[in-house]
Amino acid sequence: MATAVQQGDLSRYARCVEVSKRVRWEIDRDVFRGRDLDFSKKFLPDGLSQVRELAFLSREERRLVSQIQGRTYANMFGLVERYITVKMLELSQDHALGDQAALEALVRFTDEELKHQEMFRRLEAMTAAGMPPGYTFAPEPNDVARAVLASSTWAVLGLTCHIELFTLAHYIQAIERDADLSEVWKEVFVYHWVEESQHAILDELEWRREDARLTTGERDAGVADLIELVRAVDAILQVQAAADAEYFIAVCERDLSRVEQESVRAVFLRAYRWQYIGSGVSGERFLEVLGDLVDAGQAARIRAALQPILTATAAR
Ligand SMILES: [Fe+2]
Ligand SMILES: [Fe+2]
Repeated sequence: MATAVQQGDLSRYARCVEVSKRVRWEIDRDVFRGRDLDFSKKFLPDGLSQVRELAFLSREERRLVSQIQGRTYANMFGLVERYITVKMLELSQDHALGDQAALEALVRFTDEELKHQEMFRRLEAMTAAGMPPGYTFAPEPNDVARAVLASSTWAVLGLTCHIELFTLAHYIQAIERDADLSEVWKEVFVYHWVEESQHAILDELEWRREDARLTTGERDAGVADLIELVRAVDAILQVQAAADAEYFIAVCERDLSRVEQESVRAVFLRAYRWQYIGSGVSGERFLEVLGDLVDAGQAARIRAALQPILTATAAR
């Protein structure tokens, strides 16, 4: 039986409900407004795509790298939101006959993630219409959701907290400040950020609530599960980075040398590992929350497991 909401958290759930109602937006009325993507502009900012490391590419080729990575970026959110929606729907049951603000906060969270999935599907269709054929997004949302949801709730909430915190960090540190992005692509992530800000708070509240009911042994198993989940994310990134690099090499309108092709493959993988793992697990808030939940031995196990991936994200 999950623990009840702590008294001090009551107002935080209620505050999330209040903000969620105030910032609520609609896909067509607010985000797309009948507009299309501008393919003469970038999608993903340089700070995330690491495209500056590919100095041998022309301006147009760098823009294509940004658009390919930006396409995958949107698809990755659509992917993880499938399992996040289902998990939050499940957790909302814990509050069904309890704190009604917590119930409402998680119901709204679920509703927002369903809407986000639709927005990212729409964005993918718009992107596909303006780019050469041949792009593939390998992971299937339901397969990934089934695999993730088989893991312990502690680990699933840890992964989710990490994802939703890096969503906020990417927006503040890179997307918001890049004036050269396609307006529609950028605004998708402005609106996404506005609602994700509440999700990150709720992830933390739910992760702490779940943590409070665990024995040391159960938490230990949760740590092992979290490490496995991050490794599973890395396996997905390896496949998708390779697919996206090959797509770029195929459609970039000139023959790249073998060395240049290798650089493209390496930068795509490094960028994806940074975007979806490195930037999240090194985030200040994530480390703070994790530090509150795990003991020194468990923290060391997580650090050791992540070290090879984090080393691989360091720019050359
Ligand atoms: Fe979302
Ligand atoms: Fe979210």
